[in-house]
Amino acid sequence: MGCYSQELRVALIGYGNVGKAFARLLFAKRGAYPFRIVGVHTKRHGTAYDTKGIGLQFSFGPPASSAAEFLDRSKPDVAIEITTLNPHTGEPAISHIQAAFERHLHVITANKGPIAYAYAGLRAEAQIAQVEFRFESTVMDGAPVFNTVRNNLPGVTIKGFTGVLNSTSKIVVGTMERGLSMAEGIREAQSLGVAEADAAYDIDGWDSAAKTAALANVLMDACVTPQGVQRHGIGQLTTDEAITAAKAGYTTLLVSRGERSGGTVRLQVKPEVVPQTDILATAKGTSNLLLFHTDLMGTIGTVSINPGVEQTAYGLFSDLVDVAKSV
Ligand SMILES: NC(=O)c1ccc[n+]([C@@H]2O[C@H](COP(=O)([O-])OP(=O)(O)OC[C@H]3O[C@@H](n4cnc5c(N)ncnc54)[C@H](OP(=O)(O)O)[C@@H]3O)[C@@H](O)[C@H]2O)c1
Repeated sequence: MGCYSQELRVALIGYGNVGKAFARLLFAKRGAYPFRIVGVHTKRHGTAYDTKGIGLQFSFGPPASSAAEFLDRSKPDVAIEITTLNPHTGEPAISHIQAAFERHLHVITANKGPIAYAYAGLRAEAQIAQVEFRFESTVMDGAPVFNTVRNNLPGVTIKGFTGVLNSTSKIVVGTMERGLSMAEGIREAQSLGVAEADAAYDIDGWDSAAKTAALANVLMDACVTPQGVQRHGIGQLTTDEAITAAKAGYTTLLVSRGERSGGTVRLQVKPEVVPQTDILATAKGTSNLLLFHTDLMGTIGTVSINPGVEQTAYGLFSDLVDVAKSV
């Protein structure tokens, strides 16, 4: 049965693991949710258009010269930005999103770069263009984080947050606790498909810092970049230390913390040795956990057990349903 009569035309900038999972999800739910992919644009594979809707099997034509040209030609209602993360600047995803706003298109992204580096400016541009800007999948792969606060916590001030948000570091520490080296832990994380292309980005805490900055920018109006997060990675941890801690009932976690302090927001990422029974340590494997510290609701949280690309795709989908309700 149809839930939303609002038919939205969707254009995908980027068609990798997330884009393909998202296309599969839209196809599976097409009866109840009449969303149509009218264009797909990639860097190397080319560009595809079909105003009637692109199915799961299609051929790419020559690449559009730019995301702007792609959007002009595909004429969507919503641009979905799911290109590769640039951990140092957030570009060119920021420019892709700006091109969409200039055309008065709603934007949904799973790319945390723009939220970590340019959130306040992009939010202002979306308001000027009178369009929606959604990014649920940027932190915790589609588990409700931003939408929980937006939809379910009216009037609440987020005073701070505590999160274990990087799957690779958890896999690496777990491997070291079994007596193996950090390099072997990184290889295990890579074999599970959770490590970034350059695993140093995870180990040195940059991935956690980007997520911390994104959370602070959206939930605490922090206006920071990942460079503004006090950051220590797990690179100094030794196998002996990991084994000794584990034998004593402790584990090492790369913890993200945000806290209001006077007029500023203090942000940090650092390894913390916590009892294995600590709530932060209870989400095992690649699972993530985030606690919000609030003024009216005490501390509440979100847990995502072994999330994968299907959950990231669901985050995009939930944002799209929200956008459909708003238009
Ligand atoms: N994978 C996850 O579970 C997950 C979870 C949360 C968030 N994310 C975020 O979601 C985004 C997509 O992840 P993914 O795993 O799908 O990445 P991916 O498999 O590497 O795919 C990236 C796609 O972006 C395209 N692309 C790169 N630069 C481009 C440019 N300048 N213009 C147009 N297209 C460009 C690539 O084109 P080609 O195909 O031609 O190379 C490819 O289709 C990333 O920002 C990632 O951080 C992913």
